[in-house]
Amino acid sequence: MKASYEKLLQNNKSWAAETVKQDPDFFKRLASVQTPDFLWIGCSDSRVPADRVTGTQPGEIFVHRNIANMVIHTDMNLLAVLEYAVDHLKVKHIIVCGHYGCGGVKAAMSRHNFDLINKWIRNIKDVYRMHRDTIDHQTKANDRLDKLIELNVQEQVMNLAKTSIVQRAWKKRKAPEIHGWVYSLEDGLIKELSTMTHEDYLDPLYEFDDL
Ligand code: CO
Repeated sequence: MKASYEKLLQNNKSWAAETVKQDPDFFKRLASVQTPDFLWIGCSDSRVPADRVTGTQPGEIFVHRNIANMVIHTDMNLLAVLEYAVDHLKVKHIIVCGHYGCGGVKAAMSRHNFDLINKWIRNIKDVYRMHRDTIDHQTKANDRLDKLIELNVQEQVMNLAKTSIVQRAWKKRKAPEIHGWVYSLEDGLIKELSTMTHEDYLDPLYEFDDL
């Protein structure tokens, strides 16, 4: 009996062979350059694979994933990915995609101590506090969770707009557009929540004049 990870290597071999069979130049074409139009910021949840749920192929989507698809302005990992995607790859769209049933958001709504992870989900608790009335207006616990999941995505869209990286690109090339989406684990469908472009209102408190 093979170890479970060996199955992955075996799958990889079959996938590479099948891909070349279908399209002999596939790897030659992709090896030298990537020109994706999209940056995906999604949850690490194994049930929401960015390329599978969007039907995109290797080379089409630049991906960053973390617990609960957060855009935290001191997160060097996120910022490096964002700067590379926006300034170098010149992506046209950034997609923040949350998902219903998100464990990270659920954890933020609980009073349970998750040790180090507390520091991460504190940011989601802050989103709850900002929108407490809207969320608590929902009578069912599950609706409150769904609402926070949606509002959290929309806050992360705004967090992107607050970065000098996005604002500089908006000034220079009027792109990228930022999209807030939420994915349903139940039917595999994505719902659009919000879009932000260079023309949209951003609280002047967060605007940089000297980019
Ligand atoms: Co999640």
